[in-house]
Amino acid sequence: MADVTFAAVGKKYGDVSVIDDLNLHIDDGELMVLVGPSGCGKSTALRMIAGLEEVTAGTIAIGDRVVNELPPKDRDIAMVFQSYALYPHMTVRENLEFGLKMRGVARDETSRRVESAAEILGISHLLARKPRDLSGGQRQRVAVGRAIVRQPAVFLFDEPLSNLDAKLRVQTRAEITKLQQTLGTTSVYVTHDQIEAMTMGHRITVMRDGKIQQIGTPQEVYEQPANVFVAQFIGTPPMNLLAAVVADGMLRTSSFALPIAARFRDALTEGQAITLGIRPEHISANGTINAVVDVVEPIGHESIVYASAGSEKLVAIFDPHLTPRAGETIALTIDAEKVHVFDAATERNLG
Ligand SMILES: Nc1ncnc2c1ncn2[C@@H]1O[C@H](COP(=O)(O)OP(=O)(O)O)[C@@H](O)[C@H]1O
Ligand SMILES: [Mg+2]
Repeated sequence: MADVTFAAVGKKYGDVSVIDDLNLHIDDGELMVLVGPSGCGKSTALRMIAGLEEVTAGTIAIGDRVVNELPPKDRDIAMVFQSYALYPHMTVRENLEFGLKMRGVARDETSRRVESAAEILGISHLLARKPRDLSGGQRQRVAVGRAIVRQPAVFLFDEPLSNLDAKLRVQTRAEITKLQQTLGTTSVYVTHDQIEAMTMGHRITVMRDGKIQQIGTPQEVYEQPANVFVAQFIGTPPMNLLAAVVADGMLRTSSFALPIAARFRDALTEGQAITLGIRPEHISANGTINAVVDVVEPIGHESIVYASAGSEKLVAIFDPHLTPRAGETIALTIDAEKVHVFDAATERNLG
């Protein structure tokens, strides 16, 4: 068993609280992504699992064992960082062997693990090279290899793809996903990139200012965001968020009104101020909401259309073959069954 449990975990630097009452259970074998904007406490949470930062409140357990007082080397974890932190004077093979030698793993066992990891990662032909003779993507694989050979109970990844170019990042994230599936090792993966979070995580934990906003599968978080922050953070282009009010049984913005879907009726009262959330894919042409197209971004399989309906700015996703031109006036329709309604004051999802 190698589940990871945060129970009421807090972290302060002096008087400044950077993690507050963190409660999170990561299942055995799960790939959990911690995602949120820079500075929200993702790395701090990860480093507390690793034992690189002290926990100032609550407990962290790996399996059944509370590890708060356990030194990093005894925690049975392996960590991969953004900076690959390879030893420049050692070959790839020596880099992979190093941690095992330090732990006194027998020679044949070390060779066996290094060769197997190199095989899995497709770097067998690079074992004799030095890090300076590798591309960024190859170095990143060696860094992952160094974690694999340890055969730890838990992998910890801290933005491991941030130094790679966009194409390599996409390729490598799929490789890490596949690797995690193959090895089945419990993994905690930190990123600020919501696409990485959505594509890689079995579940994702969205954080903001040291607090958890929502924990769920990518689909749950996308379809049922807990609050306005999660709604605008997850999804590209981001969800449209408009100030609105419940008036005459409709959701009324400054320039158009939508009927209230049945699932919101009990939660809403006449006159209530709300934030209306509309995903770009739920806006389409052939409706009754007049809008002027401001900008069109064709990206091949779809086009992103920015339009103004009166004073309301909207972003919509269109079929590339049915895309209007900038300056054109179009008539939009919004799927009222699919919209999100948040309380204007608490920002909580009322659906
Ligand atoms: N050693 C430190 N001393 C004081 N504040 C720190 C220290 N390390 C991190 N912080 C602060 O803690 C917060 C969370 O940092 P971090 O966990 O690195 O965020 P993230 O990884 O989500 O970008 C930030 O506001 C950061 O400035
Ligand atoms: Mg970080």
